[in-house]
Amino acid sequence: MKLDITRIYNFAGLDQVKALAPKAMEANASLHKGNGKGKDFLGWLTLPGDISQAHLDEIKAAAAMLSDDTDYVIVIGIGGSYLGAKCVIETLSHNFAALMPAKGPRVIFAGQTISEEYIGELLEVVKGKKISCVVISKSGTTTEPAIAFRVFKEFMENAYGKEACKKRIVAITDAKRGALRTMADQEGYKTFIIPDNVGGRFSVLTPVGLLPIACAGLDIDAFVAGAKEMQDATGADVPFEQNPSAVYAAARNVLYAQGKKIEILANYNPKLHYIAEWWKQLYGESEGKDGLGIFPASVDFSADLHSMGQYIQDGERHLMETVISVAKAEKEVRIPNEDQNLDGLNFLAGKRFEEINAMAELGTMLAHVDGGVPNIRIELSCLNENTLGMLLYFFEKACGISGYILGVNPFDQPGVEAYKKNMFALLNKPGYEKESAEIQKRLFS
Ligand code: PA5
Repeated sequence: MKLDITRIYNFAGLDQVKALAPKAMEANASLHKGNGKGKDFLGWLTLPGDISQAHLDEIKAAAAMLSDDTDYVIVIGIGGSYLGAKCVIETLSHNFAALMPAKGPRVIFAGQTISEEYIGELLEVVKGKKISCVVISKSGTTTEPAIAFRVFKEFMENAYGKEACKKRIVAITDAKRGALRTMADQEGYKTFIIPDNVGGRFSVLTPVGLLPIACAGLDIDAFVAGAKEMQDATGADVPFEQNPSAVYAAARNVLYAQGKKIEILANYNPKLHYIAEWWKQLYGESEGKDGLGIFPASVDFSADLHSMGQYIQDGERHLMETVISVAKAEKEVRIPNEDQNLDGLNFLAGKRFEEINAMAELGTMLAHVDGGVPNIRIELSCLNENTLGMLLYFFEKACGISGYILGVNPFDQPGVEAYKKNMFALLNKPGYEKESAEIQKRLFS
């Protein structure tokens, strides 16, 4: 993985980035010493090196159990309990996986939405099919996954009986607390624990991410090995210039201080779409607090150059852009010659799509820099489990460093409670009588 920040120098010189190096190094040291804000949630830092082969093998055995005699593995979770697995599986799957012959059970996500159409249509898909289920909730009390699990638990108990469900349902939750823990123990489900010191959005290297990834037939050993490489490359003893997470964190904070309040994560390959979804949760939930924080946004190019391109080039100049670029495409498709050349594009004949995509990327970067959008570039040599393990750990480490530079606690999320309080009040949840009365008055008087 290569990080290139040279295209921000028109806006923030290397000297400015280097001026932030002591703060970035101090932030990294503080993460490793465990003496900063949110210090009880730093378990993710050493996860890649701490995971034993026995633990990985136990996860693979659970994936094999769930995949046995199964058409679909339904993975139920929301936020940090789904986005890590979703982004790895989407990035490493065929673009048209749903239309291709299945090599094993397909992994389908639920519990990340309360849309009745989504769950209703999923029930149509699984009707008459064999399913198994991974239900993930650290707190064990989150509404969205809890009500989705009710639906699939009932479906499976009716289809297979309670006893057989013990081989078809795995729960990933807290070691002791929460409704899901109680239920899993009562029903005799296999369980995996989300460590107390790992927050949801930093949990992709726990069974939360690893079990669904293994169910999709992907190589979790290589994924963890890639993350371990990045753990070593971003350690507290690594000098600033050689630590990509520290440099990225410093660069984005220098730009933020200059009024670049929005960071767009861009890709030129639709498979990377969910990496941005995972990244947005990681940075949005970690940094967006106390009236501070870069707003994380994302675009899929070149498609979004035909929609968001105008704003990025020419709108309010509060944007910075980080591009994830993949050096090697797995397929080779060339542009055919056209006798009549009506579209005037014969000058492209014989070229690979990848060459044109690369020039679209280079041309866009130059145009955006000229238009006042500083550019950071992250290059992956190819897309596989190893490079994704590196990338996701790189972003996690940079997020911790960046949050400390900003001065916030990157490991809490007090703001996500507000909508839940209103929703429960509107739904008359027992215990919310006062809030229910207040919200009714506010809406209807
Ligand atoms: O990162 C987070 O903490 C959140 O996104 C949670 O993962 C999300 O709210 C789901 O919570 P839980 O796993 O407790 O159901």
